[in-house]
Amino acid sequence: MTRDDLRALVRTIPDHPKPGILFRDVTTLLLHAEGFAAAIDALAATVPERPDLIAGMEARGFVVATALALRLEAGLLLIRKDGKLPGATIAEDYALEYGTDRLTMHVDACAPGATVLLADDLIATGGTALAAARLVRRAGAVVIGARFLIDLPDLGGAARLQADGIETQSLLAFE
Ligand code: PRP
Ligand code: HPA
Repeated sequence: MTRDDLRALVRTIPDHPKPGILFRDVTTLLLHAEGFAAAIDALAATVPERPDLIAGMEARGFVVATALALRLEAGLLLIRKDGKLPGATIAEDYALEYGTDRLTMHVDACAPGATVLLADDLIATGGTALAAARLVRRAGAVVIGARFLIDLPDLGGAARLQADGIETQSLLAFE
């Protein structure tokens, strides 16, 4: 499948979650067996060496991170919203348009020096991915990069990650 074929599988929903927003909906790409596999293969091909762990951010990030972890034979690190993980956690807050949210990670999830690739369905402002990177770094592990199916470059997230030293690539950009 070409990049344009994959792009055509992302549905755009106007005025969600509020008027004026064009919501890029990845669920339609995931429904397409060939498209989903081709998207994961293409993302995996951009990863130069096998990381120890792929970190996925709840919830849609779990889908991409799980598929990449299996494809790259890496472990899977689940970074969850507050109050979900059963063991001892560390937490990082990040800004939303109104208010803040919190991501958590098991304090012993990654060994010091482990290499970690962040993965999510989409990067917008980059707040989620940067909070995940802070968690991984607090554990003493190394963020070797970040991968997304979709980038919304107008919102600046990928540039923010790059400025933080995180090598960042996405499959599809939507202006
Ligand atoms: C979405 C998306 C990313 C994040 C991107 O998740 O899956 O994780 O927003 O936005 P950002 O770059 O501005 O941080 P959301 O928080 O909506 O949660 P969900 O995966 O549970 O739908
Ligand atoms: N689609 C999906 N998730 C999002 C979007 C979007 O357009 N913007 C911010 N998070």
